Amino acid sequence: MRKVGGALAALLLMGVCVVFAGQGTESLVLPVEGKYGAVAFPHWDHQDSLGDCNACHGMFPQETGSIDRLKADKALKKKQVMNNCRSCHRQRAKAGDPSGPVKCFDCHAAG
Ligand code: HEC
Ligand code: HEC
Ligand code: HEC
Repeated sequence: MRKVGGALAALLLMGVCVVFAGQGTESLVLPVEGKYGAVAFPHWDHQDSLGDCNACHGMFPQETGSIDRLKADKALKKKQVMNNCRSCHRQRAKAGDPSGPVKCFDCHAAG
């Protein structure tokens, strides 16, 4: 029974991985007004490496422009999403795991 359960769980996991990544736009450019400039964001890479939509979409829904809309409604603070990006990268780098940029102009286009 146990073995069958394990195999089923493994199959389920594989199934989840197959349908999991590649949703929404592959690569996004998040607009940022002012001197820092826009941020290029590899969306699908994150879906692949994190396996958890809510690592970001816990803060904003899966809709184009939702970050700016929530910021305009004051439901998200300025830089709240950005701080989530950076703190994940920082923590993972500290732990020696694959990670992303922490410095301002490694994300923002102007510089
Ligand atoms: C590391 C952060 C992050 C993760 C993880 C993430 N997304 Fe997104 N997603 C974003 C951002 C940023 C946007 C753009 C929001 C905006 O335009 O304001 C977005 C937008 C979207 C959109 C709207 C269409 C588009 O691409 O602009 C969909 C649909 C979406 N995500 C689905 C998903 C699904 C499904 C998962 C999990 C399999 C996922 N996302 C994981 C950050 C993420
Ligand atoms: C991991 C990528 C990343 C890094 C590193 C980063 N940013 Fe950002 N930044 C973003 C994203 C994404 C947004 C848009 C979402 C938001 O406002 O939270 C943003 C938004 C901003 C905004 C606009 C906020 C507003 O609402 O007016 C400013 C200003 C800014 N960043 C400055 C900085 C500075 C200064 C640094 C370095 C200390 C920095 N950023 C580092 C990704 C990053
Ligand atoms: C929960 C953790 C987590 C969050 C949140 C997160 N990232 Fe990342 N980021 C990663 C990991 C892991 C990688 C390395 C991916 C890989 O190489 O497999 C990465 C890599 C990157 C890279 C480098 C890609 C490359 O090709 O070198 C950029 C740019 C980036 N992230 C931007 C962002 C922005 C902008 C946000 C917020 C909207 C964000 N990330 C949110 C974990 C995260």
